[in-house]
Amino acid sequence: MDMIEVSGLVKSYGPIQAVKDIQFRVKKGEVVGFLGPNGAGKSTTMKIITGSMAPSGGSVRVAGFDVFEEPLEVKRRIGYLPENPPVYGEMTVESYLRFVARLKGISGERVSKQVEKSIEKTDLGSVRKRLIQNLSKGFRQRVGIAQALVSDPEVLILDEPTSGLDPRQVAEVRALIQELKGEHTIILSTHILPEVQTMCERIIIINRGRIVAEDSLAGLSNRMAGSVNVRIRVARPGPALEQALRAVPGVVTVVVADSGYSLQMSGEDQAVEAIAESVVHSKAGLLELRREVVDLEEIFLKLTTSEESQTPGSVP
Ligand SMILES: Nc1ncnc2c1ncn2[C@@H]1O[C@H](COP(=O)(O)OP(=O)(O)OP(=O)(O)O)[C@@H](O)[C@H]1O
Ligand SMILES: [Mg+2]
Repeated sequence: MDMIEVSGLVKSYGPIQAVKDIQFRVKKGEVVGFLGPNGAGKSTTMKIITGSMAPSGGSVRVAGFDVFEEPLEVKRRIGYLPENPPVYGEMTVESYLRFVARLKGISGERVSKQVEKSIEKTDLGSVRKRLIQNLSKGFRQRVGIAQALVSDPEVLILDEPTSGLDPRQVAEVRALIQELKGEHTIILSTHILPEVQTMCERIIIINRGRIVAEDSLAGLSNRMAGSVNVRIRVARPGPALEQALRAVPGVVTVVVADSGYSLQMSGEDQAVEAIAESVVHSKAGLLELRREVVDLEEIFLKLTTSEESQTPGSVP
């Protein structure tokens, strides 16, 4: 069953259309990354999923419950780390977590147990009696994650969980999210690529309020295979070799480049293998054969820098 189903989601802030027909599904236990530049509509979409904000149109179901018809059923199942968590600086970590637990409707005798569990998971034991306002940013972020976990929700919505943290804290929060995998269905947002590369099974790239690509990490790279280039350097270049290379299935263009060739490919590994064979066969004296894979960074830039948004799922 799909844990989260979003369809036809639209949100306008006055004249600004922040979300334009967003549609996707998340399976139980999946970890999905929302990736997109500033202002793409990630936070808006997350706010709507968690029931913290009404959309202008469309629907959201979490565990089968409609967010607008049964908001309490949905809120009970979601732990949410907002982009700007509300500050309860004058509370201690522990009293704040107890407060959130009660707010989430956890019954009296379970409050302590749940608070202990979330303190343990987020490694906040050493600061549990400290006032939140005196904590460092990294610890405050962990408190934010702890409050999202306190009701042991099926779904976690984490809006930029590592933003503003130093590299060590980033690593710690990532490790924490790794641990939470499997126990929860997770959507996290980021505009940092390595984040989704290390943590997510599936990536939804959002740009200007639309989904411009949605795929697994491997799938997204594969779909860009049209941009895989192979560079060859040979001792004795010549028209015969050039012609042989053009004849290899999967080779789109052959450009003569410094003491060799630059090939643009549409195919996969078999084509690279065939190229290698044809160069060796031609006895042109193979010096170097290099495959240049387009990395996710380039894919991301391609998908998010175009003036007009692409059709959902398409790749330029
Ligand atoms: N409360 C609001 N009132 C008016 N416009 C808003 C409001 N919140 C967001 N917007 C606008 O909606 C668009 C999407 O914003 P959103 O915060 O969802 O983007 P985001 O992808 O989370 O960006 P970031 O990476 O900067 O957090 C932006 O153009 C933003 O300026
Ligand atoms: Mg945001």
